[in-house]
Amino acid sequence: MRSLYSLQMVVMINLAVAVLCADKYSRSDFPPGFVFGSGTSAYQVEGAASEDGRTPSIWDTFTHAGYANGATGDIAADHYHKYKEDVKLMAEMGLDAYRFSISWSRLIPNGRGPVNPKGLEFYNNLIDELISHGILPHVTLNNYDLPQALEDEYGGWIDRRIVKDFTGYADVCFREFGDRVSYWTTVNEPNVFAIGGYDQGISPPKHCSPPFGTNCTRGNSSSEPYIAVHNILLAHASAARLYREKYQGKQQGFIGLSIFAIGAVPSTNSTEDIMATQRMMDFYIGWIANPLVFGDYPDTMKKFVGSRMPSFTNHESELVRGSFDFLGVIHYSTCNIRDSPGSLELKQRDFNMDIAASISNYDDFFTASEWPILPWGLQGVLEYLKQAYGNPPIYILENGQRTPRNSTLEDTSRVKYLQAYIGSVLDAIRNGSDTRGYFVWSFLDVFELLDGYESGYGLYYVDLDDPDLKRYPKLSRDWYSHFLNGGSVSPDAVIELQKNFSALSQGHFFQ
Ligand SMILES: *[C@@H]1O[C@H](CO)[C@@H](O)[C@H](O)[C@H]1NC(C)=O
Ligand SMILES: *[C@@H]1O[C@H](CO)[C@@H](O)[C@H](O)[C@H]1NC(C)=O
Ligand SMILES: *[C@@H]1O[C@H](CO)[C@@H](O)[C@H](O)[C@H]1NC(C)=O
Ligand SMILES: *[C@@H]1O[C@H](CO)[C@@H](O)[C@H](O)[C@H]1NC(C)=O
Ligand SMILES: *[C@@H]1O[C@H](CO)[C@@H](O)[C@H](O)[C@H]1NC(C)=O
Ligand SMILES: *[C@@H]1O[C@H](CO)[C@@H](O)[C@H](O)[C@H]1NC(C)=O
Repeated sequence: MRSLYSLQMVVMINLAVAVLCADKYSRSDFPPGFVFGSGTSAYQVEGAASEDGRTPSIWDTFTHAGYANGATGDIAADHYHKYKEDVKLMAEMGLDAYRFSISWSRLIPNGRGPVNPKGLEFYNNLIDELISHGILPHVTLNNYDLPQALEDEYGGWIDRRIVKDFTGYADVCFREFGDRVSYWTTVNEPNVFAIGGYDQGISPPKHCSPPFGTNCTRGNSSSEPYIAVHNILLAHASAARLYREKYQGKQQGFIGLSIFAIGAVPSTNSTEDIMATQRMMDFYIGWIANPLVFGDYPDTMKKFVGSRMPSFTNHESELVRGSFDFLGVIHYSTCNIRDSPGSLELKQRDFNMDIAASISNYDDFFTASEWPILPWGLQGVLEYLKQAYGNPPIYILENGQRTPRNSTLEDTSRVKYLQAYIGSVLDAIRNGSDTRGYFVWSFLDVFELLDGYESGYGLYYVDLDDPDLKRYPKLSRDWYSHFLNGGSVSPDAVIELQKNFSALSQGHFFQ
């Protein structure tokens, strides 16, 4: 029964390839109340890393050890000092909403215990500034930057004690900001946080074990990714229960968790590749969505990971199941999947080997300087969530185009990407998906997780050579603003916007 159902799911994703995405539309084609915004995250944008009582997070430790090619978020875009200027730019652009995250170690420097008044003041000011400009705050509680104090004390996410400390931190945020913040995402993309941070060792807290990562000094790639996600799910569920019992009645907000939702299509139509693609969906999306919707991990994961897969007690399963008002989707691209059964025979395996599938267009996916434009992939993910998980309310919390970070402001590939992907969201909605909002990653060029300041996703360019870190609008900013203000978008509109953009000599910022 299960495998037949799985096959249907994948065939459905495959069919989405043939669908033509809307290429002429305007925001009035979206349902009333649909929210369009843009986002950043604390460590990636704030800077002021050791100012006003903030203590290091695991991300500071990671960058200061040189693991991001020497780049750090010490200054980043200096949003901590420039938030007023930035909110003004958001308002001028016409954003409905701004997605940001709170730095836990700025608000509660020891991870638990006393609240830092300066941290509290900063987030209160930012939220007030947004609201006075008519911009809705969407807040993520933790975006990779766990307080180093908790990592040092007991190992952070791989210890069960994190559940209590995360809930205590969430309590402070709901209490202090919940009168003005209605949208809460607990933890950002726990699936890739665990794969990067506990399997491959390419992101904080850089845990891994040979032969799976490079220069591993501590960790266990075979077991820790699963333990970390397990504790994140329990921490999320505990915070969600607290919110529902103590705050939601009065504050009327919504709480969710985000998933890095990779698009996946089989490399061939063989049954093996189709089943491998379903495993990919189970390991990436099901890892998080199955517990939230059904109260347990997918059967494929339990079977392939075996005794290394943590299990939920009945009580925990009840706590996790249904512990969300929406799912956050983070999506950039789609990969081709090939069956790779050989790896199951190895005694020692990590997450990637457990899937027993490989990505055949690996270079496109991980090393290309720009994402290939495959909008049907996002439509397929939204359709998949609709069919496999009972059509939950969805916010697309991140989607955007990576380009080399340089002074070229005429970012036509980003405009093409956004136009195609937002069109695919419209197509998914027209076919019944309950998607309620879309956020471009990112509002301005930030410190990027994997390559520091080498690439940028911003609608604004930030000039790092200028001590004042001046912001310059890119063509994509004008495109998004045109759309947000009700303009119709089509290939013709892009040409006109481009003409206007170069006429203003904005094409290159120092002209
Ligand atoms: C691993 O460590 C060596 C020696 O410290 C260093 O030269 C190399 O760049 C490191 N590799 C990575 C991927 O960090
Ligand atoms: C990792 O954990 C697994 C399961 O607990 C264990 O069998 C294995 O020996 C550990 N590997 C390392 C490198 O510690
Ligand atoms: C798989 O079959 C579908 C439907 O017949 C077709 O559209 C698609 O191109 C095929 N995919 C591959 C990779 O052969
Ligand atoms: C900047 O990157 C773009 C690709 O997005 C490239 O076309 C352009 O030539 C680069 N410009 C400079 C000044 O390096
Ligand atoms: C649209 O939704 C229907 C019903 O859920 C589904 O059968 C169909 O495959 C979907 N179409 C696309 C293009 O996703
Ligand atoms: C381009 O500029 C002209 C003249 O200012 C203006 O009327 C037009 O609306 C602009 N086009 C777009 C797509 O913004």
